[in-house]
Amino acid sequence: MPISGEVYRQIGRSAAGAVSIIAGYDQSRVTIMALTVSSFVTLSYDPPLAMFAIQHNADSYRSMVESKAFGVSVLNAEQADVAERFARKGRDKVASFEFAFGERHGVPLVPAALVQMECLTDQVFLSGDHAIITGLIEGAKLSEGQPLLYYARQFGTFVPLVTGS
Ligand SMILES: Cc1cc2nc3c(=O)[nH]c(=O)nc-3n(C[C@H](O)[C@H](O)[C@H](O)COP(=O)(O)O)c2cc1C
Repeated sequence: MPISGEVYRQIGRSAAGAVSIIAGYDQSRVTIMALTVSSFVTLSYDPPLAMFAIQHNADSYRSMVESKAFGVSVLNAEQADVAERFARKGRDKVASFEFAFGERHGVPLVPAALVQMECLTDQVFLSGDHAIITGLIEGAKLSEGQPLLYYARQFGTFVPLVTGS
């Protein structure tokens, strides 16, 4: 007998994670779809593969599952407003945002993000109420800065423990 979704959501809130924006295009290949995720993982180094999970009821679900390419922007600690923006619903969040665009595949990226990556969709796995999407990383740009973290429904940043005597 599995635990309830509500209990599992509570458990999820106790796991801190980095925050990224996944962005691509819908079927028209013109309209940008973008959402905030904490599920980006460096899946494989050779070949370099990224993965993230997207919930079935996200407006961008179908576009992301069917997309040929997507951008991953790992946010820096100054970009909590960007994370909040793309965690909202509706077209406004995208229409009023000035994206950068990848040189290889033209995927939408967040300017000044800690990491910007261009991915070609590799595989889509349907699992529970999410799809897991993997992508081959064909371009990456790294910038200086601290990562934006999310924990217990709050944004924050990393503070190392003071250890030793
Ligand atoms: C910090 C944070 C992390 C999130 N991580 C994910 C995630 O990994 N996968 C997901 O599907 N939604 C995630 N969400 C929720 C989506 O950002 C939210 O449902 C959004 O409205 C989806 O946009 P859309 O409906 O326009 O596609 C997260 C939200 C926040 C604030």
